[in-house]
Amino acid sequence: MLSDLQEIKRLKKEKNAIILAHNYQTGDIQEIADFVGDSLELCIKASKIDESDIVVFCGVDFMAETAAILNSNKKILIPDTQAKCPMACMLNAEDVRKFKKMYPDAAAVLYVNTLAEAKAEAEILCTSSNAVKVVESIPQEKILFGPDRNLAWYVSKKVNKEIIPIPAHGYCYVHKMFDLGDLHFLRSKYHDAEILIHPECDPEVQNFADNVLSTGGMIRHVARSPKKTFIIGTEADMITRLRGENPDKIFIPALSDAICENMKLYTVKNIKNCLLNEKFEVKVDNNTAKKAKVAIKKMIEISKN
Ligand code: 13P
Ligand code: SF4
Repeated sequence: MLSDLQEIKRLKKEKNAIILAHNYQTGDIQEIADFVGDSLELCIKASKIDESDIVVFCGVDFMAETAAILNSNKKILIPDTQAKCPMACMLNAEDVRKFKKMYPDAAAVLYVNTLAEAKAEAEILCTSSNAVKVVESIPQEKILFGPDRNLAWYVSKKVNKEIIPIPAHGYCYVHKMFDLGDLHFLRSKYHDAEILIHPECDPEVQNFADNVLSTGGMIRHVARSPKKTFIIGTEADMITRLRGENPDKIFIPALSDAICENMKLYTVKNIKNCLLNEKFEVKVDNNTAKKAKVAIKKMIEISKN
């Protein structure tokens, strides 16, 4: 009898499938994935998977929806339908329309962490790695930005435009957990360490960091930094990838309990079942997908330069 890992390998070949995984997946899933990345890298990868028929997406719902929007002729599967990002549900399409009416001269720049219906209402999308570039790329001086208030704050510090967070208090429950007191303690314990923080963390936590970076930004930064020790302020499994790629460096979690339970619903077993039964397929209705695709493509285009 084949092990789950062997079976996944066999099924991938038989069904011409690939596995894409976000940086927050556990090490065993990162190992079986064909590609591991941050949300922008996954989005770009999903925009050019011509050669495969099936994609198993090991990321939360909005990431798989984005892949489905970009690939109407392929099967996009997720291993568990409950892997939803709570932040993405904090802004629905009707709210976006309401804010656009309130601010008719503003452009809606939405984080990819939104559901497809909300994406369809956006002028353009962004991720934490390209948010500043995206906001700077559009002509409007007034920007409706959501749903993450902390990312909106981060962008507002970097650009000379008016950033209006929509909704007023959208947040990620994982990144909200990081605490300034813990960072003070870690700084005093590891004086020489560099503190890297995700822009979904609270402003005072971002202010304390040496660098505020997306998960992909952290990977790139660590690879070229001469520093040896890093304190990492994002989801706990980010350290799994950082350690794997930098065995000579030391990584300290700013909070080891910072676990995205939603990302963690995937296991090697349910990935195997997902491939075997071709369930659960992620579908986005044609009208929504057509509109959302325009905003996604604009973001991808800008990110290439
Ligand atoms: P990245 O864009 O940095 O991968 O972040 C995605 C995310 O969901 C962070 O919580
Ligand atoms: Fe959503 Fe936060 Fe999990 Fe990212 S870490 S998927 S923003 S809940």
